[in-house]
Amino acid sequence: NRRIIIDTDPGLDDAVAILHALNCGRFDVLGLTTVAGNIGIDNTTRNAGRLLAAMGRSDIPVIIGAAKPLRRWGIDVVAVHGADGVQGLVLPEPAVEPLPDAVAWMAARLLAEPSGTIDILALGPLTNIAQLITSHPAAAARIGQVIAMGGAVDEPGNIGARSEFNFATDPEAADIVFRAGLDLTLVPLDVTRKVRADATWMNSLRGTTAGTIAADVIALYFGDGRQSRPLHDPCVMLLALDSSLFGIEERHLAVDLGDDGDAGALKPARAGVPPVKVAMHVNAEGALALLATGLGPSSPPAPES
Ligand code: BDR
Ligand code: CA
Repeated sequence: NRRIIIDTDPGLDDAVAILHALNCGRFDVLGLTTVAGNIGIDNTTRNAGRLLAAMGRSDIPVIIGAAKPLRRWGIDVVAVHGADGVQGLVLPEPAVEPLPDAVAWMAARLLAEPSGTIDILALGPLTNIAQLITSHPAAAARIGQVIAMGGAVDEPGNIGARSEFNFATDPEAADIVFRAGLDLTLVPLDVTRKVRADATWMNSLRGTTAGTIAADVIALYFGDGRQSRPLHDPCVMLLALDSSLFGIEERHLAVDLGDDGDAGALKPARAGVPPVKVAMHVNAEGALALLATGLGPSSPPAPES
């Protein structure tokens, strides 16, 4: 199994991604580090603990991360995710208290394990990971892969004309992560907008605890009467499990750090900057099938050969 830390701001689509990671049987989830993003840090932390409680996995720690972006104020998306971050979704309360200091916790875990054996799946603004890079560079250098939902390459943005929420919320953090020389793969709106839940697919998930909660979450996400909704954050888990579902390209990109409405947008990098890996294409049908399988009943272990 892949050993992962999920850095997250749940968040409706974060919740689906977390449920999938916990249920699919193919990840060892070492911890959920939280960040302010879709809603404030108290609610993202509470929601992470509630999801673990609902899944009977309160053995996995929740560790409190950044309460605000490195240099900005954050962006209000209460209209999308609700005042509690999950549109009033009914869940049990966390069974245990969260731990303090996500950055120190990540550093300690990375230093305690062989280098390259822990991946970070990043579902929110990149504040915690940027702080890890700047305050614990030796630990950050031991990360296996970082797979991050964020950015819009050829697609329009969802905050500004070209800026996407996670990068627009903390552009300075995204910039630090881009330039850190990590094994980074971006999962931008160019692919996440194509992996969409409709009502039929959503209802097909009901049957397991994870699938039923995921269906309830997606139903809340339909609240505005749309026909289908994009599953942004779950695409990170899907890429970690089966990168062949995605067309990954190398692009020379930098993050716009300006002060206009498009901060966080991606722009061409200066000559000489190494490229980043970006998922630009997706087999959406295959991705939805893998997500549904991971939220479904666990398959029996394969017989030993
Ligand atoms: C990203 O923004 C958040 O609202 C979602 O959780 C996702 O991580 C999509 O732009
Ligand atoms: Ca998110």
